[in-house]
Amino acid sequence: MLQRIESIKEELKKLNPVNQDDVEKIRIHLLGKKGLVTLLFEDFRNVSKEEKKNLGQVINTLKNEVQEKIDTWKQSLSSNAKRETNIDLTLNEPNQEFGTRHPISLIKNELYETFKKLGFTIYEGPEIEDDWHVFSALNFPEEHPARDMQDTFFIEKNPDILLRTHTSSVQVRSMEREKLPIRVVCPGRVFRNEAISARAHCIFHQIEGLYIDKNVSFADLKQTLLYFAREIFGEETQIRLRPSFFPFTEPSAEMDVSCKLCGGIGCSVCKYTGWLEVLGCGMVDPNVLELNNIDSKVYSGFAFGMGLERIAMLKYQVKDLRLYFENDVRFLNQFKNY
Ligand code: DAH
Repeated sequence: MLQRIESIKEELKKLNPVNQDDVEKIRIHLLGKKGLVTLLFEDFRNVSKEEKKNLGQVINTLKNEVQEKIDTWKQSLSSNAKRETNIDLTLNEPNQEFGTRHPISLIKNELYETFKKLGFTIYEGPEIEDDWHVFSALNFPEEHPARDMQDTFFIEKNPDILLRTHTSSVQVRSMEREKLPIRVVCPGRVFRNEAISARAHCIFHQIEGLYIDKNVSFADLKQTLLYFAREIFGEETQIRLRPSFFPFTEPSAEMDVSCKLCGGIGCSVCKYTGWLEVLGCGMVDPNVLELNNIDSKVYSGFAFGMGLERIAMLKYQVKDLRLYFENDVRFLNQFKNY
């Protein structure tokens, strides 16, 4: 009998059920009506009195051991079973739509990279501004039409608190705070009281550039802009500067880039001129330097400013400005590959 007990113990050690069915089979095999352990109890009746004392204990311990094992298996396999039903490793991943970067962010990042290579750093300023930073410090005369309510959103009058109409205000902030030389690009949202259409919006984005040092010349400006144009619109791009006027630059110019679509021959995009207007620029007016406590006899500088929506429109062939603000995924999905 002791031998049978030992062999059951050995068997028990080797058992390794993988599911509840296996456990049940083991239970029947050992503890069922004709199970090995049950049979031990039956045969126990026939052993001699002396043997009974010792054997009884051994058989009971064995039975408890078997019962305990079966209980543990049952428990662990039932929590495994639950886990298995929750995780189906063969199931395909649910269709996940990944977002895309907004075209304005894309172009902004590209401009950052471009100007970073030329040593410009990013400088930001507030959207709610005062008259000084948006107009007065930039040499706008008192009666300039931009100061009119029709162009500018005022928050308060006298003293004037307003939403900035251009990022040129950040030029002023950098001149106030930074040590010379200054070489910054200032991105940000700007606000103008305009009717919303395919070509205009009351909120849009600009990026402003400012470089002030000793001996900064118009040639430096031209070369910087040529580099920018070729980085953004391609190696073959040509630029053209047309005389213009801004209160804060003298001389001032507007820059066009050659139309990439027709290669300069003329098409509907460039209105058959071969050129696309991109930005305003010029040499910082000495008045502006003086208004900002910079000695205009020692220092000179150039500045430029452009609309990000416009650059993105030209680069990505977007025909309607309003698309940038609607966040329609059918529009945004088209920028997946940029
Ligand atoms: N601030 C001008 C605008 O909003 C753009 C501009 C033109 C900025 C010429 C400049 C500049 O810095 O030199 O239309």
